[in-house]
Amino acid sequence: MRIQQLVLGPVAFASLAIAAPAPLGLVVRDGATVDDCPGYEASNVKKTDSSLTADLTLAGDACNVYTDDVKDLKLLVEFQSKHRLHVKIFDADEQVYQVQEELVPRPENGETPSGDADLAFDLVEKPFSFKVTRKENDEVLFDTSGAQLIFEAQYVRLRTSLPKDPNIYGLGEHSDPFRLPNVNYHRTMWNSESPFLPTNANLYGSHPVYFDHRGDKGTHGVFLLNANGMKIDLNLTDSGDQYLQYNTIGGVLDFYFLAGKQPAEVSKQYADTVGYSAMFPYWTFGFHQCKYGYWDVNMVAEVVGNYSTAGIPLEVMWTDIDYMDLRQDFTTDPERFPLGKMRELVSTLHSRGQRYVLILDPGVHFKEGYAPYEKGHEMGVFYKDADGSDNFGVQWPGTVAWPDWLAPNTSEWWADQIATTFSADEGIDLDGIWVDMNEASNFCQNQACNPLDDQGNPPAPGNAPRPNTGRPIPGFPADFQPSGSKLRARQDSDGKHKGLPGRDLFVSKYDPVNHRGGLPDYTLWTNNTNADGTKVYDTHNLYGHAMSHVTYDAMLARRPGLRPMVLTRSTFAGNGRKSTHWFGDNESSWEHYRLSIRQMLAWVSMHQMPMVGSDVCGFNGNADELMCARWALLGAFQPFYRNHAEISAIHQEFYQWPLTIEAGKKAIDTRYKLIDYAYTALYYQTTEGTPMINPLFFLYPEDENTFGIQHQWFYGDALLISPVTTDYSDSVTFYLPEDIFYDYWTGEREDGKGANVTRNGVSWTDIPVHIRGGTIIPQRANSTNTTAELRKQDFVFLVAPDADGKAKGRLYIDEGEMIEQTDVTELDITYDNGEITVGGTWGYKGLKGESITLKSFKILGQNGIAMGSLGENSKLDEDSGAVTVEGTWSLDGDFSTHI
Ligand code: NOJ
Repeated sequence: MRIQQLVLGPVAFASLAIAAPAPLGLVVRDGATVDDCPGYEASNVKKTDSSLTADLTLAGDACNVYTDDVKDLKLLVEFQSKHRLHVKIFDADEQVYQVQEELVPRPENGETPSGDADLAFDLVEKPFSFKVTRKENDEVLFDTSGAQLIFEAQYVRLRTSLPKDPNIYGLGEHSDPFRLPNVNYHRTMWNSESPFLPTNANLYGSHPVYFDHRGDKGTHGVFLLNANGMKIDLNLTDSGDQYLQYNTIGGVLDFYFLAGKQPAEVSKQYADTVGYSAMFPYWTFGFHQCKYGYWDVNMVAEVVGNYSTAGIPLEVMWTDIDYMDLRQDFTTDPERFPLGKMRELVSTLHSRGQRYVLILDPGVHFKEGYAPYEKGHEMGVFYKDADGSDNFGVQWPGTVAWPDWLAPNTSEWWADQIATTFSADEGIDLDGIWVDMNEASNFCQNQACNPLDDQGNPPAPGNAPRPNTGRPIPGFPADFQPSGSKLRARQDSDGKHKGLPGRDLFVSKYDPVNHRGGLPDYTLWTNNTNADGTKVYDTHNLYGHAMSHVTYDAMLARRPGLRPMVLTRSTFAGNGRKSTHWFGDNESSWEHYRLSIRQMLAWVSMHQMPMVGSDVCGFNGNADELMCARWALLGAFQPFYRNHAEISAIHQEFYQWPLTIEAGKKAIDTRYKLIDYAYTALYYQTTEGTPMINPLFFLYPEDENTFGIQHQWFYGDALLISPVTTDYSDSVTFYLPEDIFYDYWTGEREDGKGANVTRNGVSWTDIPVHIRGGTIIPQRANSTNTTAELRKQDFVFLVAPDADGKAKGRLYIDEGEMIEQTDVTELDITYDNGEITVGGTWGYKGLKGESITLKSFKILGQNGIAMGSLGENSKLDEDSGAVTVEGTWSLDGDFSTHI
């Protein structure tokens, strides 16, 4: 439904601004189409050794197709590093919104002489267009000459041509194929609540970065730093030429071209651009359990107890909004989750080495006497209407005010609430925070949706039953209501980068195709003004990003020195600097089991958010034993591993069914033995940008068969995971690249032929896993109930030689929780035809009874080795061909040994 057609509710709380849209001053030329737009002409071109600037002037009559053309633009080109080229097109007056640096800090400009850069920039002055070329092979990576640049107040278009049948990835968040479709396909970026993760639709987050993989010609990345709503088209021209076209509803064209040329190098260069992921605590690799609908504190404790009884390790227990009193942030339900008992729950969990995480939502209940609201109101943290009253929407507790994360006092207010509610001394001493609904999701569809009823009361909280409180939702005194007769929109700011004045902030004449409807539908209204003068119209896609980062800072203030664990639903490019993410409200279906793989591939390797995963066994709908057993195993090889379900879904904890008990135990056992390997991979993603999950083409970039693979992945760079992906099947056909592999479970060598392999009879508690030849995997000898106990287990190193009899691996060990680590161990482990060398930095001494002892090496693929050539501590297993070298090596100094 469009805003102009809305009927106002009886209470004049909804704004009259809607009935009288802001004066736009737009001249829409009759019948003009984008094809009539004249484009721009470059002049005043100035070059330095490492940059180029030019003025861009509209090259003819304005076309004003959707809104007014901006006549004068500027072009800035910077060779920022050997690998990164920055190209920015912005309005000469610098009024158009640009993403705040505090939200997405800009990379440093290293002012590389253009002659030293991998990429070349070519300018065509009239009509303006530009080209980016990989110098090494003259490959044209980006060429905008196929369509005129359009830069209007609320519509910006830029098109690049692409080669035929391109391999384009990224552009999250979506549920579409990993390698994106190329014809009649579009990606919308407009963060929204998206139950069931519809395909071909905008989901919770926006990451306008794509990877373009051209086989042996290289891979490059293109990041558009623009947070405005947008639609990106992948399609063919009438004459059959492939293109990618950006259509934004505002903002500037701020491009970063990343040269690669290997895929993993693009990942690293993207991390250099938007920031490296935070390092997350060791315990976050444990297994997590959650469900919406754990009705009271007893039920939470019972679930934890049931896991112990079933003998399935549980590291982290979560509680959803059920814990809150009337679903208000920073409260506990006095009957179901009394504070005293919550404290007891947490101290019991902690005494067992387990952790606890709680949820928070951004919507703050508008209620007299509710301290977080009153305090926030007093500190001016909420969005305001023109009359100075708070702007409202509806979330779980009913009518809510929305924090403006950019307002000067918001961080302090939020941190205070967190410090008080989650204080170790008197509150709930939690270990992590989950921020949800932060697109922001508004249960009100749009401006006609009145968050107060005609008596001035808020709607009942949430949309789920609350059978046991019996307490009514208190109403509001009449004088607590905002006056309804004033315009909602505040004065437009005309300051720098604050957004052009005179725009329609509710309706975009260019439709970016939001699956929830118009721009402000089901979200925080887009005409709100942020404290810094920018408009929510421009910053909508940054709301959850900002909330999660403010929450990270608050957690850090609450637990100084400790790495915060913040899980957020809504994200924007660069969010991984402080947050982790799960893929939202999927369903308990085989399709979403498969989807979780392709989503993970893009998030970790392309969006630089490593600590991610799906709701294991699915959120909406009922899981079943077979699917959940498979998912338990698949999820164990995702970085973030949490079983979570919706309130009306049946219980799907792993202890619910015999097969999920067995699969869960095996999955967690294996995952835990591999945690140090995964933690090391995370560490290198946070320091070097090398992804901890690798799509197959990252490791075999010239093998065309790998380009479209979306149901297999490398966990780290050594373990190839190939789960059964067909519904209720026990057979899987997977791809083994031409390389040496070893079966992880049996240790047997299995040479890849660059062909598909079919495996039948894969039991419900099995998942095919292969080790890539040439790698060494540090493992713990035994798995345990918690990661704290795991750290006391000795190490074993698993060596998988390549065709030349060589292998290498890395191991990073630190204390696991602190941001600043002083004593760390960073090892390079190498194997060369029988000789093993371990060397590096030896700082970690093994605190709290932890082990830094290595008990054995296991070298695979030694079939046929002469027994006599083996040392006295070495033993050959003739079935698998593995030689085990037993010993005791303390991981505190360089050493070498041999088989
Ligand atoms: C929506 C979230 O996506 C879901 O995970 C959560 O359980 C519900 N909100 C209730 O808080």
